[in-house]
Amino acid sequence: MEVKIAPSILSADFGRLNENIAEVSPYCEMIHVDVMDGHFVPNISFGAPVIKWIKTDLPLNTHLMIENPDKYIDDFVKAGSDRIIVHVEACEDLKAVLQQIKDAGVECGVSLKPATPVSEIKDVLEMIDEVLIMTVEPGFGGQEFMEEMVPKIKELRDFGFAGDVGVDGGINAETAKICREAGANLLIAGSYIFKSEDLEKAVASLRG
Ligand code: DX5
Ligand code: ZN
Repeated sequence: MEVKIAPSILSADFGRLNENIAEVSPYCEMIHVDVMDGHFVPNISFGAPVIKWIKTDLPLNTHLMIENPDKYIDDFVKAGSDRIIVHVEACEDLKAVLQQIKDAGVECGVSLKPATPVSEIKDVLEMIDEVLIMTVEPGFGGQEFMEEMVPKIKELRDFGFAGDVGVDGGINAETAKICREAGANLLIAGSYIFKSEDLEKAVASLRG
């Protein structure tokens, strides 16, 4: 399966956001956008009014780390999201939220916090484009990769899930290799890419 790289702009320079995105875009397949509300996770990032100003030809994957995501889906679609990923832990009726995203005309995905097992989402796998496995506790960039999350990747593939299996948190050349070998095809990386001296080389090293 072709490996896709999505830089997480959480580690970009927000004062030069579009420049940072333009610099990295030639080497990547998607842009990963982290929305945090200070409730679902202990940090606040940005919302739809900021995303609306992002200029890129790459698909925008919006990772919603917020409570009550159903209330904000339309805002994120209007802001330019091509795929919206919600946390299973934040949805009372996950199927309904996913259907809402699909009805709004964009792709959908589900993310799992480290403590949440894959079994929680088995009955929605056929309706989603991506499973995003958190390989750190969501909330901050620059944390250490949790290797004990790797079996979740294999579990999803063994179950026959053919969509994107993404990993998010602590991804670098070494941990990317572990994830690819387990069956992940979408690698999200924030600090590893944006803190590197050579963007092209950093992204290439994630592909192996
Ligand atoms: C964490 C975010 C990640 C984060 C990854 O809650 O969802 O996307 O930006 O950052 P790194 O790659 O630095 O771990
Ligand atoms: Zn993320």
